[in-house]
Amino acid sequence: MGIIINDKQNRIHLFTENTSYVLEVFEGELLHAYWGSRLELPEAFMVPIENMSSFYPNPNGDNKTYSLDILPREFPDFGRSDYRNPAIRLRLEDGSSITKFHVSSFELSKGKPVVPGLPATYAEDGDLVETLIVELIDDKSSIHAYLYYSIFETYDVITRHVQIVNKSQTNVLVDLAMSASVDFYGDHDFEMIHFNGSWARERELSRVSVSKSTHIIESRRGASSHMQNPLVLLARPSTTDLTGDVYGMNLVYSGNYKAVVEVNSYDSTRYQMGLNDFDFEWQIEPGKSFFTPEVVMTFSNEGFNGMSYNYHRLYQNRLCRGMYRDKERPILINNWEATYFDFDAQKIKDIVDVASDLEMEVFVLDDGWFGKRNSDTTSLGDWYVNKDKLPDGLTGISRYTESKELSFGLWFEPEMVSLESELYKKHPDWCLHTEGHSRSEGRNQLVLDLSREDVQNYIIESLDLILKSHPIKYVKWDMNRNMTEVGSKLLLASNQREVSHRYILGLYRILETITQKYSHILFESCSGGGGRFDPGMLYYMPQTWTSDNTDAHDRISIQYGTSYAYPQITMGAHVSMSPNHQVGREIDLERRTLTAMMANMGYELDLTVLTSHECEQLKNHIRYYKRIRRDIQFGRLYRIHHDEKRTAFMIESEDQKRYYVFYYRGLNRPNITKMTLPLYYLSEGGYQIRKIDIDTVIEDSIPHEDETVYPASYLNKKGYTFDYQKHDFDGQLLVFTKL
Ligand code: GLA
Repeated sequence: MGIIINDKQNRIHLFTENTSYVLEVFEGELLHAYWGSRLELPEAFMVPIENMSSFYPNPNGDNKTYSLDILPREFPDFGRSDYRNPAIRLRLEDGSSITKFHVSSFELSKGKPVVPGLPATYAEDGDLVETLIVELIDDKSSIHAYLYYSIFETYDVITRHVQIVNKSQTNVLVDLAMSASVDFYGDHDFEMIHFNGSWARERELSRVSVSKSTHIIESRRGASSHMQNPLVLLARPSTTDLTGDVYGMNLVYSGNYKAVVEVNSYDSTRYQMGLNDFDFEWQIEPGKSFFTPEVVMTFSNEGFNGMSYNYHRLYQNRLCRGMYRDKERPILINNWEATYFDFDAQKIKDIVDVASDLEMEVFVLDDGWFGKRNSDTTSLGDWYVNKDKLPDGLTGISRYTESKELSFGLWFEPEMVSLESELYKKHPDWCLHTEGHSRSEGRNQLVLDLSREDVQNYIIESLDLILKSHPIKYVKWDMNRNMTEVGSKLLLASNQREVSHRYILGLYRILETITQKYSHILFESCSGGGGRFDPGMLYYMPQTWTSDNTDAHDRISIQYGTSYAYPQITMGAHVSMSPNHQVGREIDLERRTLTAMMANMGYELDLTVLTSHECEQLKNHIRYYKRIRRDIQFGRLYRIHHDEKRTAFMIESEDQKRYYVFYYRGLNRPNITKMTLPLYYLSEGGYQIRKIDIDTVIEDSIPHEDETVYPASYLNKKGYTFDYQKHDFDGQLLVFTKL
């Protein structure tokens, strides 16, 4: 019973377990009536049609009582009295952009159709998932728009995307096509939450009040970007992690996007997300379609934690794919911060030897193994092994790694070409460029033109050649610069504004081909750290390198912001060296490990320089993480507290019997009392508390310090009192076990 259309066919109620979304049809216009906590009687809810002064343009001469500028619209088109940002803007044969899309039909189906060529969430047999397709037609141009709404009933999620079909005899240009647009009628009591940043400072949470103006969050860089994540939330001013109403939109797309929050002078809020119309245009030939990417929408009245749970569950179960979706992720050692470009076979073997003693599970050979790549100035595109560094080739090093009982993983940056490379000499036109302009370099490299099929095929073939002939079980797929001079040699002048979207479609084709063919490989996406941490990439690769910043203190804010939409299992988190290579901060091994332990833990340091004591510590950490990682990676994450002084996360095991509290502190201060934090979310029962010393805890005996049993109600309301802070940046892990 997920979608109900009333008898008059003018009202549709989409239900999930805890939310409702209501549409209404008025004089052919598709209106937005409601989105929020679940309603039992949606019929009582009608969109008020205003009595307008005749000064306001009104689109219907027979009924001058309303203006589209006032109505809450679900698919606002352009030019007929609505002055807000439209969701669709076409350029028609006669040069105009004015359309009048009216509702023509509804169709319901079980399950969820794919979005052709694009990543999207999916339904499996038995899921309570249904789809509503609303057909709208602009009679004058013969353009049809199909709005897809899929409801994931048990996940409290609605997904939306749009298909635009050209049923005319001439080409039509799409200038703007948002995937979702929602109008909150007469309501602007919101704050907007977005996640901005830069390289090594990804996903810093910003919260701003929504004023009577237009707020735009976007990327124009050709990637979803470090700068703004395609996750934009609207929440009530009183909403916190723990309580209150919040609306989320997150785009399943890895390129240029735009989110708009616009409050008009009638106090209504328009909330949109989709492809960025900046430097964009798409030509649809007669009979052809254009599909927008999917937006994942969720509402929760249980604060940001409630919202995150909806995203986490959905992404883990119905966005990520492949055999690793439901599998515990291996502990890897990556050689990047250990060696950078400066390694040879012996150095790698030495690292592998220690990793093997420490019972790590995957060795990942990072940048520098191919062509003549001894610095970031050369060889991207030349995907053959550098025999000076690895005389026995990838075969030698991968066999050695396997003989030490570690799987072998390899780094690629397939979307790029170095100016100094054989590939560039041979195919100088294969990069994005525009004649008459010099080519801006980023990290001494250019971006390959993935809108071209020959370039896509080259990438597929070069990777295929390596993957099929070596026992590779893990691939780190990197992308280290943004687009400039966006243009393609093969496209006509009239199609040049399609390049950045065609690039992403080309990338998705490559990823689909490679990840399907090599389904036994665990893929991790990376983009100078977390420059493309988005649901589009997660569809192909179920984990992402969260940030190049591995400092255990900075990482907490990065992981905190990332956790708003993305589950902890998707966040690569590595223990690295102290002093930290990015910020020079010294932090002890215990805290560095605890920072990584709340997510998908791995290592990125020179194991060969560790003392025997440090090796002993690592051994214990690894044994302990393996023991708890099912709980950590598949459990429910709660953000308990976050400010400058301290942050606490709690992870609830799937069976709700164990709760792991990760408690991180900033600078120490003298002369302060111990601090208490309520835990809020323990399920009913009595709990035994264990302070975990990760350095000493071994397989089967966790030290029991205190046998007192505390009731959940006490811990949830009064809280737990943490030890005194020992020094700057210390950390604690506590396990609350239900008896
Ligand atoms: C990017 C990645 C790093 C590393 C380097 C290699 O910066 O984020 O993890 O792989 O490239 O050049």
